[in-house]
Amino acid sequence: MTKAACTSDAWYKTAVIYELYVRGFQDSNRDGRGDFRGLISRLDYLVSLGINCIWLMPIYPTPGKDDGYDIMDYYGVNSEYGTLEDFRSLIHEAHSRGLRIIGELVLNHTSDQHRWFQEAKKGPDSPYFDYYVWSDNPEKYSAATIIFSDLETSNWSYCKENGYYYWHRFFHHQPDLNYDNPQVRQEMIRVVRFWMDLGLDGFRVDAVPYLYEREGTNCENLPETHAFIKEIRAVLDSDYPGAILLAEANQWPEDLVKYFGDGDEFHMAFNFPLMPRLFMSLQLEHHGPIIDIMKRLPTIPESCQWAMFLRNHDEMTLEMVTDEERDYMFNAYAEDRQMRLNRGIRRRLAPLLGNDRRKIELLHAILLTLPGTPVLYYGDEIGMGDNIYLGDRNGVRTPMHWNDNKNAGFSEAQPSRLYAPVITDPVYNFHSVNVEEDRNNRNSLFSWLRNLICIRRNFPIFGAGTIEFLYPDNKRVLVYLIRHEEMRMLCVFNLSPSAQPVEIDLSFLGNCIPIEIVGGTIFPAIGELPYLLTPNGYGYYIFHLFE
Ligand code: NOJ
Repeated sequence: MTKAACTSDAWYKTAVIYELYVRGFQDSNRDGRGDFRGLISRLDYLVSLGINCIWLMPIYPTPGKDDGYDIMDYYGVNSEYGTLEDFRSLIHEAHSRGLRIIGELVLNHTSDQHRWFQEAKKGPDSPYFDYYVWSDNPEKYSAATIIFSDLETSNWSYCKENGYYYWHRFFHHQPDLNYDNPQVRQEMIRVVRFWMDLGLDGFRVDAVPYLYEREGTNCENLPETHAFIKEIRAVLDSDYPGAILLAEANQWPEDLVKYFGDGDEFHMAFNFPLMPRLFMSLQLEHHGPIIDIMKRLPTIPESCQWAMFLRNHDEMTLEMVTDEERDYMFNAYAEDRQMRLNRGIRRRLAPLLGNDRRKIELLHAILLTLPGTPVLYYGDEIGMGDNIYLGDRNGVRTPMHWNDNKNAGFSEAQPSRLYAPVITDPVYNFHSVNVEEDRNNRNSLFSWLRNLICIRRNFPIFGAGTIEFLYPDNKRVLVYLIRHEEMRMLCVFNLSPSAQPVEIDLSFLGNCIPIEIVGGTIFPAIGELPYLLTPNGYGYYIFHLFE
């Protein structure tokens, strides 16, 4: 291992991250909503799955119009989830089990219920007016896109108290903070310190590209944003070594990689360009989309890392694809319009893949072997379903299915008190899709994934290595080699539903012996002739190559 990959400060390079929604995970006080105490009682489950870092969706006090991404107070916790003391216990309990916890840092905006905005509304004489972005007309910054295009019609909203318009890149109840104001920047550094002092291991930083606005630009990825992130990073490096910053920057490769700076901005960034192309390659039965985008990603600094994901708490965003590709994806994965939201698809992984276990395994196998750190979404490890009729993105945030007891074991409240109904449809209902069933079944998706996570963690090469694509004539098969120092892994994935023959020229590797790492089978030695493999439909091989 290189220094960056093996020091504990670079733990994120070999981590497996699990995103969860506190409200949806486990209720401990029968109010129908998950909470910190409930989550603590489920930490051993997360350890048994093999993950070693939890990413929590926002836990701040909030009016709850955007599931906590609308913050009312940066220095507290949502009382539905418990107290700050409970949160401290959560961190303590997680750490004592070897689990790290990263939280959300929502820099771009607050809730309109935040005290700063309430004060700012009083007008230009208020000391908080300048905390937000105002204009006397709604024409400024017209080149900026509307992100929630199905839900908002403008990035400006009128404030009838003071007669000005305020700027918001997301919901109208989420006014953007004004980063040209040094007080706002200082305040946010204070917020970072507050949570670091409490023991968090880092932040997923929300909506990074939009911090500043400049006329004549699309108000994204401005140099000032990079400068401010570098300031935050410097605070972490000097006072909280080992803490990480993970960027949510839904951008094309060229803009996205700039968020790594020279290794002095984000430690990690979600690989937004890759994610939809995994699904596209699968649908097209062609390795092209994955290879093309991976080749377009510039090399990133040694200490940095991609965060790889299939699904998360939002719609599956289709912003980083062309209009034609988006149409293709909508037709392939969201025939029913109810499944579409903004420029994306609001579905969980299993329903997106038609509940085809082979496809679910294949995508996870790719996710866990491509260079980067995998980020899983709660419930996807048991193939949970969704509810597209719940509105906004709520259909992918329903309660976790623990067992087939009342409310899927999530809560002892009356079912009508739950913040959202558990899934009861014929295919994904909690009687058959739940943790208890899956843990007791060696052939379940959970058991399969736990095994793969364990393998992945035994081979840190997947988090630290470099990738080289190979180009077999059979384009239905994706082949890559991961190298790290003397170690080599050969990964082969059949993207089609039927068995495929594939000849791979591996003569440049010399006479190696491939050992398939899931089953431990020794394969015939590689020689001068093309190496022939015949993976089953959606089958895959992960080989450790020995001299
Ligand atoms: C990105 C988050 O992932 C999403 O859930 C939220 O609605 C927006 N940022 C606005 O904060």
